[in-house]
Amino acid sequence: MEGVNSSSSISDLDELARLLDRPRVNIERKRSFDERSFSEMGIFDNVNSPGGWETPVSSARNSFEPHPMVAEAWDALRRSLVYFRGQPVGTIAAYDHASEEVLNYDQVFVRDFVPSALAFLMNGEPDIVKNFLLKTIQIQGREKRIDRFKLGEGAMPASFKVIHDPIKETDSINADFGESAIGRVAPVDSGFWWIILLRAYTKSTGDTSLAETSECQKGMRLILSLCLSEGFDTFPTLLCADGCSMVDRRMGVYGYPIEIQALFFMALRSAMSMLKHDAEGKEFMERIVKRLHALSFHMRSYFWLDFQQLNDIYRYKTEEYSHTAVNKFNVIPDSIPEWVFDFMPLRGGYFIGNVSPARMDFRWFALGNCVAILASLATPEQSASIMDLIEERWEELVGEMPVKICHPAIESHEWRIVTGCDPKNTRWSYHNGGSWPVLLWLLTAACIKTGRPQIARRAIDLAEARLLKDGWPEYYDGKSGRFIGKQARKFQTWSIAGYLVAKMLLEDPSHLGMISLEEDKQTKPVIKRSYSWT
Ligand code: GLC
Repeated sequence: MEGVNSSSSISDLDELARLLDRPRVNIERKRSFDERSFSEMGIFDNVNSPGGWETPVSSARNSFEPHPMVAEAWDALRRSLVYFRGQPVGTIAAYDHASEEVLNYDQVFVRDFVPSALAFLMNGEPDIVKNFLLKTIQIQGREKRIDRFKLGEGAMPASFKVIHDPIKETDSINADFGESAIGRVAPVDSGFWWIILLRAYTKSTGDTSLAETSECQKGMRLILSLCLSEGFDTFPTLLCADGCSMVDRRMGVYGYPIEIQALFFMALRSAMSMLKHDAEGKEFMERIVKRLHALSFHMRSYFWLDFQQLNDIYRYKTEEYSHTAVNKFNVIPDSIPEWVFDFMPLRGGYFIGNVSPARMDFRWFALGNCVAILASLATPEQSASIMDLIEERWEELVGEMPVKICHPAIESHEWRIVTGCDPKNTRWSYHNGGSWPVLLWLLTAACIKTGRPQIARRAIDLAEARLLKDGWPEYYDGKSGRFIGKQARKFQTWSIAGYLVAKMLLEDPSHLGMISLEEDKQTKPVIKRSYSWT
């Protein structure tokens, strides 16, 4: 299959400008929708500027002929609502009556609720999001233990369940911080998503009062204390156990997974814009600034891989000692897997899955790369390169159902060693190279930010051909994502909400402001390393 034709992007931008009912700004092909172009369009104000919270409603709202799937999706999303004492507080992970095993899919997952929340915000229904943010911050205050071990105060739950007692007519909440999860891993991503969602709520409603409450300020500080605490780290990235995020099973994502690093970066920047300038807030802001500075340098330098960088690593010397070492982590070139040499196009690049001593996980992970674009962890050039890669490797990364969670799958002996023979994560299934419709919203947002809505449109077309007909599966299997996943739930809420958010973003790109951060001009550009040993 050929790469996506990007020549249509000028007319796409024309169309966007027309929909926004504003004169077209001169945006070059492939230039990012950066701070300047957004502020020219009047839709991306700096969050710190006075009155900068509003995301003005676009004149384009309701001007589209909606796809018939949209109404079905809204109905399904509303059926998934969960109530606590009469108030909606979240959405259930899957409303799949046909499935015999409920497991924990009848719970409200923090990460799963994010696309639901964005859909409600974009539709002008912020109350459920506010209720969710307040409920989860209350849960954070509880003592949490796994066996006899007490977890950090700031830990946020992976999920919670509302238990209704029909006799006493009371509701209570049961939360899971990892003590019930398969593998007993605490979700590192939950706290980050919570902060990111608080910013989205504030940005979309213009209501700063929620973020300013003492509960939310304290909640943020507790999350930040956990991830900014000093220890034995030599890297600014965050050290994690396997399975502590969306990929919540053993998949070789321990160490410094890209998903967590990108969310960490985005949460730090989001918190910066919401922390109060009081003594406690200021102390955290100083720590955040230092960490962001080091983190962006580390990620942009060592996680970034393109053709040139791959060639440099291929020619690395090893066993270097001292400050002058170029191959700082002592990566042995023989450890580069064969597939990367074929996969890496001349045009394009991405943040690899993981970097730690003598280990580079070269796998592509969609969520981390899209969040890196949205948070401006990626420079504008890197963001454009990531989109180039998606175009160049469309068959592998999108295929027949957007979007592949990671590429490539691990199989045979490697699968046995890395997953511990996980029967759910067999090759090209579930977390191991499966295709997850929820990722469509992240791809769409990244496409809009980089000025390439035509890529998103192509992906949405693919989803529209199957999703409703197939009953909104959780994931698809196979090299090109053609088969409904082996154990996929139907009516998976984030597949439904992800589709709605993608549609609304494309129809009204002004929504992007709530989940995107413009480039921080103070972050020093990465030093381009190019080494030659000849
Ligand atoms: C699976 C996914 C996880 C998701 C949960 C609920 O465990 O791996 O990311 O949050 O299902 O949908």
